[in-house]
Amino acid sequence: MFQNTVVAGGGVLGTQIALMAAYTGHDVTIWLRSEGSVGRTQPKIEHYSAQMLEDLAKAKALIGNPMGAYVYPRGLIRDWKSATPESIDALIADARKNLKEHIHLELDMAKAVKYADIVIEAMAEDPQQKIAFYEKLAPLLPEKTILCTNSSTLLPSQFAAVTGRPDKFCALHFANSIWKMNTAEVMGHPGTDPEVYQQVVAFAQDINMVPLQLHKEQPGYILNSMLVPFLNAAESLWANEVADPKTIDMTWKLATGAPTGPFQILDIVGLTTAYNICTMDPRSKEEGSTMNKITRLLKEKLDRGESGINAGKGFYDYTQRS
Ligand SMILES: NC(=O)c1ccc[n+]([C@@H]2O[C@H](COP(=O)([O-])OP(=O)(O)OC[C@H]3O[C@@H](n4cnc5c(N)ncnc54)[C@H](O)[C@@H]3O)[C@@H](O)[C@H]2O)c1
Repeated sequence: MFQNTVVAGGGVLGTQIALMAAYTGHDVTIWLRSEGSVGRTQPKIEHYSAQMLEDLAKAKALIGNPMGAYVYPRGLIRDWKSATPESIDALIADARKNLKEHIHLELDMAKAVKYADIVIEAMAEDPQQKIAFYEKLAPLLPEKTILCTNSSTLLPSQFAAVTGRPDKFCALHFANSIWKMNTAEVMGHPGTDPEVYQQVVAFAQDINMVPLQLHKEQPGYILNSMLVPFLNAAESLWANEVADPKTIDMTWKLATGAPTGPFQILDIVGLTTAYNICTMDPRSKEEGSTMNKITRLLKEKLDRGESGINAGKGFYDYTQRS
């Protein structure tokens, strides 16, 4: 088992990865490039720690609620079926300690990685900056250290050579809000050592993620290769007034036996994320296009505070319990 975990970059995902590793008892160092980064990362640590503790506390009220199994914080509670208010209180007590004591910030890259078992790069999605980082890191890493990238859109083969350890390098891709959406897609490049790959899979399990193994490189990994076109198709039917969200969901559920339809999924993922994905599509700026209509409709819902299940309302109203 890896004990010394280093996360490079203390942004949204870097902070969340570090917190999950600390929550599960690992010693975590976040390497940051400047004092300014420390000032930006510290409040994020506090913000996400508070959210994790709040979600644990809220989970107590979900015990016995049939929707609970869909929305409980899966990364924080390993065994939902046997969870009790008392077992969750014990997790809260451990979390208060681990999230404070197991994380430290370091500006000196050599010091940060000196004892690293694994380094997870979670810096901004900029290939040039990532290459510069890997080149600087290569001579500092101990022989044993495994290196992963959390990049969402870049493939590990783009960086394998500059890491200086292509056999010990692969992608380990988390989802935003990892303490709830606890997927970890593990994707090697053709030169990744299969044994190293399996060690990364085991590490993902250790930090309460569900490892999802890809056998080859794929832009968008598994999830987004399927989910983005699926949700786009459902949103297009809605935006073009072909059918309403409830009917679209019902069609999907009745015809496939799936427990949730696309709009229920959107409520779980959160409409803010859906909106952000749409705005990244250049077609969202083309007046009259379907993507433009979807973006506008999502924005209207967000402006009304209907951002999904966590807000109590999205495409469905969750304040009325049956
Ligand atoms: N946000 C998401 O939903 C999400 C989900 C999965 C994966 N990712 C991936 O995680 C990575 C980080 O994304 P994020 O959303 O946390 O970004 P972010 O902008 O919140 O954080 C980026 C971090 O990288 C640091 N950074 C940028 N350039 C640097 C440099 N040259 N040297 C050192 N540090 C530098 C920034 O200071 C910041 O702390 C990206 O590769 C992204 O594709 C993001």
